[in-house]
Amino acid sequence: MKLIYEKGGTGRRTFQLPACDVPQRPLAELCPGLIRERPAELPEVAEVEAVRHFTALSRRNSSVDNNFYPLGSCTMKYNPKINEKIAAREGFAGVHPYVEFFRAQGTMKLLYRLERYLAEICGMHSFTLAPLAGAHGEFVGMRMARAYHESRGDRERVEVLIPDAAHGTNPASAALAGFQTVPVKSGADGLIDLNDLRAKCGARTAAIMLTNPNTLGLFETEIATIADIVHDAGGLLYYDGANLNAIAGVCRPGDMGFDLMHLNLHKTFATPHGGGGPGAGPVGVCEKLDPFLPAPRLAPSDLAMPEIELVWKNDYPQSIGRVATFYGNIGVCVKAYCYLRTLGADGLREMAENAVLAANYLRVKLRDKFAVPFDRPCMHEFVATPTAEMLARGVHTLDLAKGLIDAGIHPPTIYFPLIVPEALMIEPTETETLETLDEFVAVMNRLADTAAPEELHRAPITTPVGRLDQTAAARRPKLTA
Ligand SMILES: Cc1ncc(COP(=O)(O)O)c(C=O)c1O
Repeated sequence: MKLIYEKGGTGRRTFQLPACDVPQRPLAELCPGLIRERPAELPEVAEVEAVRHFTALSRRNSSVDNNFYPLGSCTMKYNPKINEKIAAREGFAGVHPYVEFFRAQGTMKLLYRLERYLAEICGMHSFTLAPLAGAHGEFVGMRMARAYHESRGDRERVEVLIPDAAHGTNPASAALAGFQTVPVKSGADGLIDLNDLRAKCGARTAAIMLTNPNTLGLFETEIATIADIVHDAGGLLYYDGANLNAIAGVCRPGDMGFDLMHLNLHKTFATPHGGGGPGAGPVGVCEKLDPFLPAPRLAPSDLAMPEIELVWKNDYPQSIGRVATFYGNIGVCVKAYCYLRTLGADGLREMAENAVLAANYLRVKLRDKFAVPFDRPCMHEFVATPTAEMLARGVHTLDLAKGLIDAGIHPPTIYFPLIVPEALMIEPTETETLETLDEFVAVMNRLADTAAPEELHRAPITTPVGRLDQTAAARRPKLTA
């Protein structure tokens, strides 16, 4: 497909400006030093060419709007479009960050209520909505853990424990916040090896970062013991809330013993995740960590002005300070608020239950033809792999993923978590119909039975770009046309 710069012809326009009806001033007078020596090389296309160009590009997109998208851990679920519409309303989308308090009370109230809802859902004391993604939330959480230990003169706590099944952002965030990371092994059951945890947890432990259910989709049943081990050693429990969609409305991280956490609003609470954004990674804390939350914070007003109920306050001497421009990604927060108001407490629980039901349905249906390394009831996602027989025939996880693309299905997350070779990490989500799940099983089974693995090795053949040489793409990337 041609670039838009390669289309069109000199002088073609998609619009005409009316004749100038005000006196003209020399440009050099208006912006000295900024005048172009030659005109910008912009595409010169007719409206119909521009429309067709961008429509064609949009059709090449793979998204939840046109594909089943069972991307484990990255949760691409269909989200209500009404939320997009509401977030795009001028009152939310157009509010200037420096607007006077009294003009933005509606938006501020919505954010304040969302903080309270999230605290209630997670069993935390308070929340900040400022962080702009899950990984950003982790970094903010780690900085707060550090500030907490330092405030107690506890400067020897320089290690953060991280299970070997953890998402890669966990060690990255802890390291960025100045900690050394210490891996904790998973046992044969896919859960944390308690003996390894006991051996590694001690006076140098600042925190453990844990997602529950873990990235294998398994609930850490010994979470209370884990909490005791870490707390007894003086460490904090950090909850990576990326998988909260499995337990929302059913149980709460705070009740499991977690001290601080982040949420991926863009996974659990509407807004499709992917391509790096837009996202929001609110951070919640128990009471003892509240003073360290980022500032400015939303707080009830003490001004003698009845029209102002909420204000931004900066007066938090122990705060780790500002972590985002203004107050985070408000559009994503508005969508999460709408989602919560629509679902209510019962709906939220049903959402999690349906996500778990769909994952277990696929787990059981797929185990006829695939290996399921931890084959017991899972939460919202599970890991399958090709069988030894398929591998011997030359059918690997990568081939299955590429074959799915030709069948019009986005592949699951592959080769993650790292502790399972050839992992296919499947998360169907609560929003898919039974027919879609059955169709996925049928396609997977067809790929598993393929008599011609060499055809699969050439997949995908229906996409604008075919199978890439992944080594060359990494080692010798071609970054220009
Ligand atoms: C378990 C887990 N933790 C953390 C993250 C990081 O979140 P984000 O991509 O919003 O930075 C993800 C992302 O998918 C995740 O699956």
